[in-house]
Amino acid sequence: MSMGGIKSLTKRETDFVNNWESEAFRQKASGCSIEGLLKDKIAMVTGAGSGLGRSIAIGIAKAGAAVALGDIDTTAAEQTKAEILKQLPSAELLVAQCNVTNEQSVQNAYNLLMDKFGGLDILVNAAGIAPAFSMVDLPVDKWRMTLEINLTGYLLMAKYAAKIMIAQKMGGSIVNLSSKSGLEASKNNTPYNATKAGEIHMARGWAMELGNHGIRVNSVCPGNVFEGSKIWNPEYIKVCAKKYGIKPEEVIPYYVKKTILGLEIKGQDIADAIIFLSSEKARVITGQTLVVDAGQVMVR
Ligand SMILES: NC(=O)c1ccc[n+]([C@@H]2O[C@H](COP(=O)([O-])OP(=O)(O)OC[C@H]3O[C@@H](n4cnc5c(N)ncnc54)[C@H](O)[C@@H]3O)[C@@H](O)[C@H]2O)c1
Repeated sequence: MSMGGIKSLTKRETDFVNNWESEAFRQKASGCSIEGLLKDKIAMVTGAGSGLGRSIAIGIAKAGAAVALGDIDTTAAEQTKAEILKQLPSAELLVAQCNVTNEQSVQNAYNLLMDKFGGLDILVNAAGIAPAFSMVDLPVDKWRMTLEINLTGYLLMAKYAAKIMIAQKMGGSIVNLSSKSGLEASKNNTPYNATKAGEIHMARGWAMELGNHGIRVNSVCPGNVFEGSKIWNPEYIKVCAKKYGIKPEEVIPYYVKKTILGLEIKGQDIADAIIFLSSEKARVITGQTLVVDAGQVMVR
């Protein structure tokens, strides 16, 4: 099925749309047998090749959903697929190459998803970057690139997800993965602070626009998650160590100590929050922001 564009539909496509019984088609296209909170759901997760996107994709697959693994880096997304299949041989997965900043690429990824699974219930926007510079040293191209990926990317993915969900008439869930930096600014992080705050506010507006279609939109704000993240690469850890006058190996314990619970946040903790928000258990929750940071930031 092709999304958008100015080309008119062929007869075959018109027949498909007219006779599309979404539930019947979905049953045929996605036959995931895993029991869980998201059984029979179909999800798209961006940034699924690494870090939090990967953990979220694994969690959502374990919760019973068929998952499209969206990432610009297909090799990394294939690794996520292999990791999930090792744990869950019956998982229903699709690697969907996708540059979230490019409208055509986004549409192509959803076309692949529709061909394989026949529908969409859940979008998790997680593909993001965090170039850390002081504002006086910030190269403007890094600023623009962050706006493109973290804001335009989230918007394009949500735009085409909403079109499918509206056509299906079965509701849906969109989660923007923001950050505690979207609520409380972090130092030397201008593009990240601005875009992560913007993601929360876009989600609130979308919740208002899409609520009458039964589509819920929420944000999740993780604290620092080191596990598997390319943002927390050895170079960035060195920068942090220098900033705090500590050794690189002391950086993770330093951040853990900042939390009220004194716990290191794992990818699974973020996945669990998203699974809850995307499930029927959260059927009356929309336009909200869930902070998952072991108590580091109090929402004001
Ligand atoms: N790790 C943390 O401490 C932390 C904390 C709070 C929020 N987050 C959020 O989690 C998300 C992921 O962070 P991470 O630490 O896992 O990062 P990461 O760098 O490990 O993973 C990001 C993934 O996004 C993909 N990606 C980048 N540009 C893309 C594009 N244009 N199109 C499609 N895919 C693209 C990358 O290929 C990569 O697989 C980000 O939105 C970040 O803001 C992370």
